[in-house]
Amino acid sequence: MLNKFFLVLTSPQLLLFPFLLTLPQTHALDSSTSTIPSDSVVSGRVSVQISGFGDDVARSHDCQGCPSTLISHIDESPLLTAERFCSSDPGCVDSVSKEVADAHLVAFYQLSTELDDHLKAEGVNMTAVEGKSHTYLDKVRLMKRLAQHEEVYTVCEVGFNAGHSALLWLASGVRRVLSFELGQYPYSAKAISWLSKRYSGRFQVVMGDSLESVPAFHKMWPEERCNLLFVDGGHRYQHATGDLENFRQMRNESFHFLLVDDTNQAEVAMAWRDYKDRGLAREEEVVWSDYSEDLYFNSTGSLAPHPDGIIHEWRSSISYGLYV
Ligand SMILES: *[C@@H]1O[C@H](CO)[C@@H](O)[C@H](O)[C@H]1NC(C)=O
Ligand SMILES: *[C@@H]1O[C@H](CO)[C@@H](O)[C@H](O)[C@H]1NC(C)=O
Ligand SMILES: *[C@@H]1O[C@H](CO)[C@@H](O)[C@H](O)[C@H]1NC(C)=O
Repeated sequence: MLNKFFLVLTSPQLLLFPFLLTLPQTHALDSSTSTIPSDSVVSGRVSVQISGFGDDVARSHDCQGCPSTLISHIDESPLLTAERFCSSDPGCVDSVSKEVADAHLVAFYQLSTELDDHLKAEGVNMTAVEGKSHTYLDKVRLMKRLAQHEEVYTVCEVGFNAGHSALLWLASGVRRVLSFELGQYPYSAKAISWLSKRYSGRFQVVMGDSLESVPAFHKMWPEERCNLLFVDGGHRYQHATGDLENFRQMRNESFHFLLVDDTNQAEVAMAWRDYKDRGLAREEEVVWSDYSEDLYFNSTGSLAPHPDGIIHEWRSSISYGLYV
């Protein structure tokens, strides 16, 4: 049972996910970091540990400039892992945190695959599953970076769907995730039970139309506040506008991020633009992302969408900013 989670990739080129699942090598990882002198910067590997899966799961991949074994927990920010190892060398912090961030993304994609496998085993037709936010690498990078900000404790999202974004928040170490879901697809319930088992006590779903459920929830529990608000529900103008307005009441006034997904879609874009034009929100950044179900390490050693897997028509953007 435990062994199937210990995947050691012998070469970055193997990182095509369909391959990954059938890799024959399974090794337990050596976690004896304490025996490695801090000046032994050789080409090593990063081990990413993931808890919440019954056992403490570890995954690893090659890392240029890392010590022979560098342990990073998926819910620790890559910068902190790098600082712990590099002490005061800024060049080292830069390169190692980038490697660790990529290793975390690899681990997250594997977790997503486990969720997908569970849904498939439950008879869900994955071709018909909407959303799949984890297949947009650059969105995932942004979402994970924001979720790991030291002041983010609670994430609220409209649009749970098949649970990939909730999984990302939870795996990133967010203490509490509150999800509002319409519940139009039977697979949502299957994903909810899978996540609840692994992250019990940190995850809650409110079923129903968010235009009603968000204000109702807020009225009942006005002290519940969110440090990161993710708008990814109905993509029509009225729905996106309503979600933006209702989530406003739930923001944590001392610290929050606002994320709006799929701002490439006309009605969402219009809702977001109008909301900003009314002076109610400010945009910090727009991140565009290719869709690809496969990843690889490209010629410059960075994790990237695999060119063969990219579907150009599905390129999509996410905006982040804050309520003002
Ligand atoms: C799965 O869903 C896709 C897309 O909706 C559909 O084309 C396909 O026929 C479905 N497969 C099965 C086995 O139902
Ligand atoms: C708001 O967020 C901060 C952390 O950034 C936290 O300390 C505080 O408890 C939060 N307030 C509420 C009401 O949740
Ligand atoms: C490699 O991937 C990174 C991150 O996705 C990207 O910024 C970079 O341009 C890519 N380099 C090449 C040569 O494709």
